[in-house]
Amino acid sequence: MEHFVIVGQKPLSGKVYISGAKNAAVAIIPATLASEGVCTIENLPNIEDVSNFVLALKKMGVKCKLLDKSTLRIDARNVNPMLVSQEILKDMRASYYLLGALLGRLGYAQVPLPGGCNFGQRPIDQHIKGFEALGATVVIEHGTVKVKADKLIGSNVYLDMASVGATINIMMAAVYAEGTTTIENAAREPHIVDCANFLNMCGANIKGAGTDIIRITGVDSLKGCSYAIIPDQIETGTYMIASAITGGDVTVCNVIPKHMESLTAKLSEMGCETQSGDDWIRVKSSGNLEAANVKTLYYPGFPTDLQPQMTALLACAKGTSFVTESVFPNRFQYVDQLMRLGVKIKIDGRMAVVEGPARLTGTEVIATDLRAGASLVVAALAATGITKISNVHYIDRGYQDLEYKLSSLGANIQRVTTNELPTVVEA
Ligand code: EPZ
Repeated sequence: MEHFVIVGQKPLSGKVYISGAKNAAVAIIPATLASEGVCTIENLPNIEDVSNFVLALKKMGVKCKLLDKSTLRIDARNVNPMLVSQEILKDMRASYYLLGALLGRLGYAQVPLPGGCNFGQRPIDQHIKGFEALGATVVIEHGTVKVKADKLIGSNVYLDMASVGATINIMMAAVYAEGTTTIENAAREPHIVDCANFLNMCGANIKGAGTDIIRITGVDSLKGCSYAIIPDQIETGTYMIASAITGGDVTVCNVIPKHMESLTAKLSEMGCETQSGDDWIRVKSSGNLEAANVKTLYYPGFPTDLQPQMTALLACAKGTSFVTESVFPNRFQYVDQLMRLGVKIKIDGRMAVVEGPARLTGTEVIATDLRAGASLVVAALAATGITKISNVHYIDRGYQDLEYKLSSLGANIQRVTTNELPTVVEA
């Protein structure tokens, strides 16, 4: 069992280079199965979710070749939709994108019910509604979702909520549907636009991605293409928050500042100095932060995937902050572990009341999901003394080289295995 050992209270400073977006990668990799050519995907993050997806594709008869650390060539011309591996994909939510990609191209797919971070019920009814609107039959039995269609016909789908997954999945299935499909109340996240751009590079006809109405006109086939994915919005935000909580001066590089506007504005409101250029954002903090209120919303609102990290930061701000989680019904399960570090917080349904500034002190904590783990790392960077975070495999799902990137900014962080003691850890 691996864990991180962090000695806090070191202000971070310097430049950190952001990797490709996890949630774009886990959509575009399955989207390549919709293509009848060879695709080369660049700027892939070197993270567990990507390596697991590659393993699963290989088991399906897809030829995958890493051309370098972040470039993958995928040839799915002989993909077998019957060979989706439950074992490899059971912990991933994004496995459900295999449904849309294969249903569109082959008219059939069977995929295990999705896994992923456990913060409350995460149904896929909107995905199913979209597939059925296109003329597919959907059966869920023995923990597997089976979708089938002799012919997909374009249709109108109105999503009950702006679901990222459903928007992408229906978009993928619709690229081959006869006629025009309209997705209304569509999600607008950057990785949706990225996936639409990839599919259009392959010859699809998708208009409106990034708005709440997406129109897809069916085509007969998709060729291969080369495509570089966007930088990770959530990794970017995590380092921006890490700079603020340690009283640091960090510049995140290879980013798209537009994607970060909701966080940049909030950090400025809390008293940080922020500057940005074409592909970088600098966050400078004196360490004296003011309380603020945060409400997570669909993009371009404040991202739910930065809510746990932001809550840790608000715990170090002067005054009372209110955090409202309006995307997921139950995304505060991580606070028990944050409270072990000294965070003062009360949960009432979808709202958290955070009292600051709390004096954070290091101890042993457990990551319960990907972004919960990130919030523990951020809090540990500010805590006095030593923090040991276990279950780092959750964090590895979404952060490439986390300990190296943080160390390069001046953090004292080590990855150790259970039967090893950290080499030198001064308090
Ligand atoms: C994606 O999950 C991301 N995962 C999540 O990131 C992210 O938190 C979420 O979008 C919101 O931005 C990937 O992209 C792999 P949703 P997804 O469908 O698609 C409800 C991370 O840390 N809903 O937008 O599952 C759902 O329960 C992960 O990187 C239905 O009710 O999110 C939730 O309350 C965590 N029925 C809300 O909609 C459905 O059919 C938004 O979910 C689908 C969703």
